[in-house]
Amino acid sequence: MYSLQVHFLEGSMCNDLRLYDRALARLTRRELMNVAWKLGAVAVMHPPGSSGLLAQPAFRGDPFTLGVASGEPWPTSVVLWTRLAPEPLDGGGMPTANVEVGWEVARESAFRHVILKGTAIARPELGHSVHVEVDGLEPGREYWYRFHAGGEASAVGRTKTAAAAGAPVDALRFGVCGCSHYETGYFTAFQRIAQENFDFIFHTGDYIYEGPETPNRVRQHRGREIYTLVDYRNRYALYKTDPDLTAAHASAPFVVTWDDHEVDNDYADSIDEHDTPPEAFLLRRAAAYQAYFEHMPLRKGSMPNGPSMRLYRSLAFGNLIDLSVLDTRQHRSDQACGFGAATNCAAASDPARSILGREQESWLFDRLAKARARWTVIGQQVPMFAMDRGPDVNPNVRFSMDKWDGYTASRQRTFARLKDSRTPNPIVLSGDVHVHYGSDLKMDFTNPKSEIVGVEFTNTSITSGGDGRPVAATWDALRARNPHLRFHSAKRGYIACAATQATMRAEFKVIERVTVRDEAPAQVAGALVVEAGRPGSSTD
Ligand SMILES: [Fe+2]
Repeated sequence: MYSLQVHFLEGSMCNDLRLYDRALARLTRRELMNVAWKLGAVAVMHPPGSSGLLAQPAFRGDPFTLGVASGEPWPTSVVLWTRLAPEPLDGGGMPTANVEVGWEVARESAFRHVILKGTAIARPELGHSVHVEVDGLEPGREYWYRFHAGGEASAVGRTKTAAAAGAPVDALRFGVCGCSHYETGYFTAFQRIAQENFDFIFHTGDYIYEGPETPNRVRQHRGREIYTLVDYRNRYALYKTDPDLTAAHASAPFVVTWDDHEVDNDYADSIDEHDTPPEAFLLRRAAAYQAYFEHMPLRKGSMPNGPSMRLYRSLAFGNLIDLSVLDTRQHRSDQACGFGAATNCAAASDPARSILGREQESWLFDRLAKARARWTVIGQQVPMFAMDRGPDVNPNVRFSMDKWDGYTASRQRTFARLKDSRTPNPIVLSGDVHVHYGSDLKMDFTNPKSEIVGVEFTNTSITSGGDGRPVAATWDALRARNPHLRFHSAKRGYIACAATQATMRAEFKVIERVTVRDEAPAQVAGALVVEAGRPGSSTD
């Protein structure tokens, strides 16, 4: 028994399962349970000679500390997610063994009628996360789900399937959110999102931030800047133990994309901001992408392959919304004219450069030509609209090279495609800039009379930047220089979108303060409405 204990503690147990099984075979069930509790982690009940699957694990603490989530709503299928982590901030506290996790789906939150159930394997290779792709559900309806492992039960989550392809849908409500820096505030906006009971929630990225702990902030990261897989896992765990974030996930299915901080600030493909050799940075990217997959309710199609991961994909909600999810980080050309902002940067409009990469652009353009739903929604991370900051602040930094402003040939190709293929009612979603914007999208942003090809809703941050203010100090100058901008708020919050066959209405919601615990409801700072068939947005 003591030799078994040594093997277990050293994490080498599964390196020699035959030895381990022989040791287990000499123990009674009671002795096995004793081993488990004394070791403080997990014990096994699998018979000698089995595959090493822990069907009856015993945990020292709650294994469901990271909550539950669902995502990728299809008409008959959603992804159900959890990750076993009894010691969430210290690598998870799980042994290097496979663990069986049960799941159940019911039509009501009380689980009186379980309609589907099964088991999944939480594997150490994936940080003991599980991504169950449940199929056989009915389109366009709510479900509730939960997990079991070792006699412990998870919290209950609500999810909702998408309507069947092409089926008539009168209305949907969805949230748009992103940029939750743990250190700069409380995730109150996630709690308010949870109370919205959305049909789905689109996350525009910056789910975590990679930086080190910083003193004198509202709360602290742990340790240095993150680089390794274990670093990233612990960072996700820190964020996911926040009850407000957990509540948002349990309230509705998420459709996620990433921005830069899931890996490193302002990275572009294999280029980071520290001049790291690309082959070295890709090792970090591989760790970051794996941790992202492990913690998001994504399908197997997004499983990472080394430093690469397919994140661009499509979802459809009956005849109301066709959603294309983009990845403008992994496949982009390096930022032009340095990292930050520039004024006269010829490379920013070089048609050889791309923010999507050739394959993704081709995929998107194919989809835009085939879109048939009332609203063609393009969900992504960085603002697509032009933002001319003018010469007032600094004449050398008029345009941000990290946004679509740094890839204007990509933007013009996309707008030309929207126009040429008569894509129905394009709506672009973005985040990244930590303030709300609503903007019309124009073929030529320098010409106020230019044709409008779509409307963009840019969500502010959940917390990044701290409390914020009603409007940025530069707002009046920005609006004068960028007449396509229709709305702005510099407070924290999220967007609540209501789509019907007639209109798409975006309510820009804000939280009064994020540096203190705030019990007040979210406020509507303003709203924009787009009428189907009419270009542009209007306030209401
Ligand atoms: Fe951000």
